[in-house]
Amino acid sequence: MKTPSIALKANAKSTVIDILNARLLDAIDLALIVKQAHWNLKGPNFIAVHEMLDPMRTAIDGHVDVIAERVAQLDGTPVGTSQAVAKSSTLDAYPTDIKKVPDHLQALADRFASIANQVREDIDATDEAGDADAADILTAFSRELDKDLWFIKSHLE
Ligand SMILES: [Fe+2]
Repeated sequence: MKTPSIALKANAKSTVIDILNARLLDAIDLALIVKQAHWNLKGPNFIAVHEMLDPMRTAIDGHVDVIAERVAQLDGTPVGTSQAVAKSSTLDAYPTDIKKVPDHLQALADRFASIANQVREDIDATDEAGDADAADILTAFSRELDKDLWFIKSHLE
């Protein structure tokens, strides 16, 4: 018996699967980064920034799940292991020797901007591949990333 699957061409599926799996690793890395900052802040504005970061983590985790499950829906294999994140995340490694709140805000802003700009390119690429749903999933993630970057930057300006 042949089970039905999403009517996208195999090459379109594989293009989208590769894009989503790449951003999955970045998104998991970003989720870890947000907690690394949450735990290590020191100085004025501690509580504001500390408390700002937890809802960001929660939101990112939600997007991680939606991205991974779209890969599964496309008959791909979502790969979100720590080994894959360490090997293939495109985000710069988060420094473990910084303490001051502005240093964390700068490090966070750099990484949020990096993934946000990559996701914007991915929206167009998945749309061109014919998967409006993947483009929509990435658009929702892009909105969250841009909002978070605005929150982070607003503390620095
Ligand atoms: Fe906490």
